Amino acid sequence: MMTRILMIASAILLLFFAGNVQAKGNIERGADLSYDCVDCHGMEGKGTFETPPIAGLEEAYILKQLRGFSSGKKKSMDDMMHTYTEDRTDQELQDLAAYWATKKK
Ligand code: HEC
Repeated sequence: MMTRILMIASAILLLFFAGNVQAKGNIERGADLSYDCVDCHGMEGKGTFETPPIAGLEEAYILKQLRGFSSGKKKSMDDMMHTYTEDRTDQELQDLAAYWATKKK
């Protein structure tokens, strides 16, 4: 009985860690990369009268938007978002998306 519980417990743990590895964005690195973002989107990413909120959006949605801005496919007012994403690696965009998705709306 005990071994069975242990086996189930370790299977759950394994799934948990596998899930974490699968999430590609690194939240801590995303936080480090976000010092520019807060200038425009506000300290908590809640947006201002000229910028949309970015905190608490779906990670996949943020990533899609950032990739769009970075490649220039998606336009933003005065190309602002292109300027702040064009020199970033895709990994950095994933980190940023992971970080902002964890913030409270
Ligand atoms: C110079 C000001 C400025 C900076 C710096 C900036 N943004 Fe933006 N961002 C904007 C503006 C303006 C928009 C609205 C774009 C539009 O539709 O015209 C926007 C839009 C976005 C969107 C799309 C939101 C939506 O609802 O679709 C995301 C995501 C985003 N920014 C994330 C970021 C991240 C992450 C950073 C830091 C790397 C950042 N922004 C830095 C001004 C800025």
